[in-house]
Amino acid sequence: MADVEFIKSHLSSHPDFPKKGIVFLDIFPILRNPLAFETLITHFVHHITSHTLANAPTKKIDVVVGLDARGFLLGPIIALRLGAAFVPVRKHGKLPGECISASYEKEYGTDSFDIQADAIKPGQTVIIVDDLIATGGSAKAAGELVTKCGGKTLEYLFIIELLFLKGGAQLDAPVYSIVQSD
Ligand code: ADE
Repeated sequence: MADVEFIKSHLSSHPDFPKKGIVFLDIFPILRNPLAFETLITHFVHHITSHTLANAPTKKIDVVVGLDARGFLLGPIIALRLGAAFVPVRKHGKLPGECISASYEKEYGTDSFDIQADAIKPGQTVIIVDDLIATGGSAKAAGELVTKCGGKTLEYLFIIELLFLKGGAQLDAPVYSIVQSD
């Protein structure tokens, strides 16, 4: 698809960042180019409206959840286009009011995500958005928070999926990624 190739051409890769052996895939060149950014958002929204919602019981996304930090750059725009709420999942300790937490494994040690307890109502339909899925630990924690709130995750969406890490295997809903890397 021409739009996928166009989006892909605006990704840059950085060997040995943030440390030796990691090839870091940077999405910021997409955001620097308004046409590439528009193409990206339109691609996601088209996928959601023509595929995700076609299989959804209520034919409606109630909530777009974005993950700290780059999910915050995509989620609100997708939410506005869908007429859905945007809800952030943040690193522990940053959100005010009553929160629910879930921990996840990182390369070194564990980290923890929070969601505001009243952000998702029982029965609401949710999609979870981030820039990239690697091992899937952070996406899994976000999915657990949605479930704890009583929400139903319909799909996880990413620009990039690192297939060799098989992160999608531990998630409770399908994964959609625009670019796959192995
Ligand atoms: N997060 C985890 N692995 C990554 C990678 N290779 N590039 C960008 N972000 C990442």
